[in-house]
Amino acid sequence: MPAYAVIGGQWGDEGKGKIVDFLARDSQYVVRYSGGNNAGHTVLNDMGKFALNLVPAGIFWPHVTCIIGNGVVVDPEVLLKETQGLQDRGVDTSRLFVSDRAHLIMPYHVALDVLEEAARGSRAIGTTGKGVGPAYVDKVARIGIRVGDLLHATDEGTFLPRLEHVVEQKNAIITKVYGGQPISVKALYQSCLEWGERLRPYIRQTEVILQDALAKGEKVLLESAQGTLLDIDHGTYPYVTSSSPSIGGAMTGLGIPPQAIQGIVGIFKAYSTRVGAGPLVTELDDEVGNAIRDRAWEYGTVTGRPRRCGWFDAVAARYSNAVNGFTSIVLTRLDVLDGFSPIKVCVAYRRDGQTIDRFPTNTLELERCEPVYEEFPGWTEPTASAQRLDDLPRGARVYVQRLEKLIGAPIDVISTGPKREETVTIRPIFAPR
Ligand code: GDP
Ligand code: IMO
Ligand code: MG
Repeated sequence: MPAYAVIGGQWGDEGKGKIVDFLARDSQYVVRYSGGNNAGHTVLNDMGKFALNLVPAGIFWPHVTCIIGNGVVVDPEVLLKETQGLQDRGVDTSRLFVSDRAHLIMPYHVALDVLEEAARGSRAIGTTGKGVGPAYVDKVARIGIRVGDLLHATDEGTFLPRLEHVVEQKNAIITKVYGGQPISVKALYQSCLEWGERLRPYIRQTEVILQDALAKGEKVLLESAQGTLLDIDHGTYPYVTSSSPSIGGAMTGLGIPPQAIQGIVGIFKAYSTRVGAGPLVTELDDEVGNAIRDRAWEYGTVTGRPRRCGWFDAVAARYSNAVNGFTSIVLTRLDVLDGFSPIKVCVAYRRDGQTIDRFPTNTLELERCEPVYEEFPGWTEPTASAQRLDDLPRGARVYVQRLEKLIGAPIDVISTGPKREETVTIRPIFAPR
């Protein structure tokens, strides 16, 4: 039962989209298991440049079936717009399915996300404002409405009272707590009827499709959104997203057994970035940070916000490896560091005069940590677009080898540019090990 999970090892935007598109060539299924359209996965291939929010990055391969699993929260308008946009550009979306168990992001979730953020003031999380957090709140509160419910929206007697109940509750909060505009339940009900009809071709019991595929021995790629340090449990709480991007989320978000997982692939970029608030120990608030941002065009795919940039944090990376148990690492954006000298890697933290090498739980504690750096001379020849290990300058290979040691898992693939072919495979991800 070969499933391979592709997991963001840092704070998101590690290049998961590029790597999933690359690995999907040799896969039969690509499935998303968590998050929503807070994700922005960039793919650059012979069909063009795409920024995917909900649709798995395997959609460009005609032999691949794509699934949006039960752990994802789905904004129906966004999904319909995204599939239409792909179709308009010649991408076949008939092999895309969405779980009937996935929860919906409703307009009141989007409204609450924005209002709650504004009310947090200086303690704002810097959410993407897409309604993701409030949708997960309702899922856990057991008042969520699921994708499969849309197929029964015509059953006015059961569907409408549920919708009325939740809209009434949300409107009370929106208007009385935040002074916002109420949502019209009548208009929303009409939208639900329409969404049900338009999404009908995509809606399936996806865990059954996946369980059958795995039983037949077909290769399934599990595509995470966000990154381990944004995980609701294991990330830098409360500056996190509201789902479980790390390996545990792949089980609950799809309904497949852990024995199905043959490989856990951690995606790390060769330095650090973070969008939104929360501690980033290696953050470079200087011209080096600006140079990385400009060279790499580090601006959010979803919100366009500048990403905060810093050196690679090996303390956080080791922690991420401990949470996920990576069997392989893919190191992306190595080319961005071409010409930088020195290049630094954070190997420990210093806090209150003490050196620590464990990632602290408490965010306030993490905020007080200073990085302890190891320095590398860097390299002058380019790594950009390299496809073979031998093509990488010696300085780059030294850097990669050191990161591998520090993370504690093998770097099997190095990405040297955004395109599929700009990839160095040291050891194939799907090779038996
Ligand atoms: P994701 O959310 O993890 O899929 O990552 P994003 O798409 O949000 O951000 C990654 C950015 O890096 C995108 O613009 C990619 O096209 C780009 N990218 C991915 N791998 C590489 C690489 O190895 N080198 C360079 N220069 N860019 C890359
Ligand atoms: P991909 O899949 C980077 C961040 C937001 C914010 C926090 C909470 O492209 O790697 P949310 O809207 O989820 O409630 O926001 O999480 N965030 C991401 N940062 N990449 C992402 O996704 C992200 N998805 C959410 O910036 O700090
Ligand atoms: Mg992204």
